[in-house]
Amino acid sequence: MALLEVRDLSIEFETRKGNLKALERLSFTLNEGETLGIVGESGCGKSITSLALMGLLAPNARVSAGALRFEGKDLLAMNEEARSEIRGAEMSMIFQDPMTSLNPSFTVGFQLEEMLKAHPREEADRSPAGRRKRLVELMEQVGIPDPAQRLTCYPHELSGGMSQRVMIAMAVASRPKLLIADEPTTALDVTIQAQILELLRDLQRRYKMALILITHDLGVVSETAARTMVMYAGQAVEEGPTREVIASPRHPYTAGLLQCLPALHAKEAPKTRLPSIAGMVPDLLARPSGCQFHPRCSRAQEPCWQALPDWRVEGSRGERCHFPLTQAGGGQR
Ligand SMILES: Nc1ncnc2c1ncn2[C@@H]1O[C@H](COP(=O)(O)OP(=O)(O)OP(=O)(O)O)[C@@H](O)[C@H]1O
Ligand SMILES: [Mg+2]
Repeated sequence: MALLEVRDLSIEFETRKGNLKALERLSFTLNEGETLGIVGESGCGKSITSLALMGLLAPNARVSAGALRFEGKDLLAMNEEARSEIRGAEMSMIFQDPMTSLNPSFTVGFQLEEMLKAHPREEADRSPAGRRKRLVELMEQVGIPDPAQRLTCYPHELSGGMSQRVMIAMAVASRPKLLIADEPTTALDVTIQAQILELLRDLQRRYKMALILITHDLGVVSETAARTMVMYAGQAVEEGPTREVIASPRHPYTAGLLQCLPALHAKEAPKTRLPSIAGMVPDLLARPSGCQFHPRCSRAQEPCWQALPDWRVEGSRGERCHFPLTQAGGGQR
């Protein structure tokens, strides 16, 4: 049985301008200890996917279709009490903006201790002295030097990288089976980014957690996630083993994202400007017909604006394109 099963998940928002279909029939599964990268441009639905998993969608959101199962349990059928039992204990999330996720009025130690009290995992978590020991251990595990002293700090006294480490400590304190990291490195500089990714990999192995790593950067998933799903305008457009997706993308959007990667591009033309994908993501209140990517796709032809391509699966790869790229880079037309 898969740890997590997302089937045809669709999410709509009630907005002043009308009904906005933000997520359309998204499906994926995640096994115990597995890492899935979710990649796509801003607004493609990465965060709402994770908020839906956590049961933390905004009040104007509605799951209009689909199913969410965690260890076989139907998450959408659960009441809030049962859901909050799973949230934090079995699955936890590192939010996109660590600075606003930590409460500025309380010390790091206090906030971390609250997590241990709420979701005790070890006998030590049940006594103040035991928790004290566990807090120091947790801080050490996430690579915070001088942990005892740092526990007395308020969030504003920590650097961005340190705050992110504290957020990670809070998320893994309960040893969740699933950790969702939503753009965990966006606000950090490149060296710290690499350290945080290394830390996530290390904790994932240590606790045998499944990890969903959300990012707009294919470079970030390339070293961390075994599988990657690429999203566009609230839909999955491509999925497969990360190495294969990067070596031979089948969807033109994935190919476009790869072209924008500085590391890969630098070897070819270090002094030229990085390319970007022309055009913009569609307005979700006025979606284009057919394939959502067709207005930006240089390969688009009639079927592309006539009909949304089906999700096609071949072996370990899945893709949604009328004219997928072949390995050699040419089309199948
Ligand atoms: N509360 C809300 N009300 C209306 N629309 C919303 C709401 N929350 C999100 N959306 C819309 O849903 C879409 C998906 O948003 P989401 O936050 O998941 O994007 P994202 O992929 O995480 O982007 P980013 O990379 O910028 O974090 C966007 O078009 C966004 O405007
Ligand atoms: Mg987001």
